[in-house]
Amino acid sequence: MKVLTIGGGGREHVAVEAFYKSGAEIYAVMKNANPGIIRRSTKYAVVDEMDVDKICDFAKKTGVVMAFIGPEAPLEKGIVDALEKIGIKCAGPTKNAAKIETSKAFMRDLITKYEINGNIKFASFNNVNDAKAYVKDVDHEVVVKPVGLTGGKGVKVQGEHLHSPEDVVEYIDEIFKNNIGGTGVILEEKIVGEEFTQMAFCDGKKVVPMPLVQDHKRAYEGDLGPNTGGMGSYSDSNHLLPFITASERNTALKIIQDVIDAMAKEGYSYHGPIYGQFMLTSEGPKIIEFNARLGDPEAMNVLSILETDFTDICYRMATGSLNNNIKFCHKATVCKYVVPEGYGVKPVPGKEIIVDEDGIKDSGATIYYANVNQKGKKLLTDTSRSIAIVGIDNSIDVAEQNCEKALKFVKCNNVFVRHDIGTKKLIQRRITHMQQLRSI
Ligand code: AMP
Ligand code: GLY
Repeated sequence: MKVLTIGGGGREHVAVEAFYKSGAEIYAVMKNANPGIIRRSTKYAVVDEMDVDKICDFAKKTGVVMAFIGPEAPLEKGIVDALEKIGIKCAGPTKNAAKIETSKAFMRDLITKYEINGNIKFASFNNVNDAKAYVKDVDHEVVVKPVGLTGGKGVKVQGEHLHSPEDVVEYIDEIFKNNIGGTGVILEEKIVGEEFTQMAFCDGKKVVPMPLVQDHKRAYEGDLGPNTGGMGSYSDSNHLLPFITASERNTALKIIQDVIDAMAKEGYSYHGPIYGQFMLTSEGPKIIEFNARLGDPEAMNVLSILETDFTDICYRMATGSLNNNIKFCHKATVCKYVVPEGYGVKPVPGKEIIVDEDGIKDSGATIYYANVNQKGKKLLTDTSRSIAIVGIDNSIDVAEQNCEKALKFVKCNNVFVRHDIGTKKLIQRRITHMQQLRSI
């Protein structure tokens, strides 16, 4: 099958590998020259991923049958609506269905209306003074979020990034003044627990789960620093996580099913991968956000171990014919991103990065190229995450060691990595944290 892929990051590279493995002919559009995607593509174009007309033109000329959309911004722009209009099946939601991610206010209003489990206290505002007045009255710490998209970097948490009520007010002012995210602010109750990602394939009605993953949003080791798109992630061989029970996972899955049902009732039938981000609290999983796509880096943990034909899964999501017959192998994975100096604050792009792919493979790991550019023989960093290394083995511990061995085969002076991801020490901290919360 001829498949169009949109996006040039690590998530799209692993998706391209999964399409390639299942015999698809790949036609790729992306904003950067990703060498991993280029080598698997029959044809590719480096384009603005928001240029719907150009992408539709490329799709028509190449005769693709189906499209896979990696990032959220083209979904918000209506790429699926446009591609469907010219007869291309899409494993991704329409502009309206993508609102589950592109408007945090829409998401909270939906789960409130349908009384879906896992909601938290929130209030959304499109007026700066009302938002500031609300902060004065609340009796709990808040999390300040621009309502619209910010590439995972707009959320600030009181007590972590905002150290006083004045800081909260100042950030609200900044969001409105600079129009961050475009559509106002949402103030949420700050909740405490351990975060996890439950992704699922969805065909409008049916929801089929992927293994659980834990991402690491903070830029620096020890979960410090600004929020990022995600510095790395791990998954366990039993498809749960070391701090969560099967029953808690089922609660999260039921929440996703309820959201998909609610979307259908609202007339926004949801086709494509859906991403639920939850905080496991002492009262069970609470909803942090939904994304209308696969997670990045989480896609690399799950697609690396997918056994079922990915092209077939995507076609079934697009056409409403998903079945439960989707299998992942029982291996643990640890993914660490190599990111440019300054990532999360002020990234420094354009530095050469040297990769020894054989060394990485011999270490029991896989490389996925992300926001890098192949320029002749040179590979150059850009402003976002550069390269992901995924260690795979029977246990998280060995997968982590494989990942670290492989990282030695990526050479660049102007990058950093969160080496603590997937280590025994950090995982034990997560387990102990959850035990403490459960015993209160
Ligand atoms: P988001 O972009 O919504 O995923 O938020 C980024 C990060 O902020 C999350 O991964 C959490 O660590 C934190 N966060 C978001 N919402 C909340 C909340 N209501 N309570 C506590 N932490 C939160
Ligand atoms: N890993 C978080 C995201 O994909 O938004």
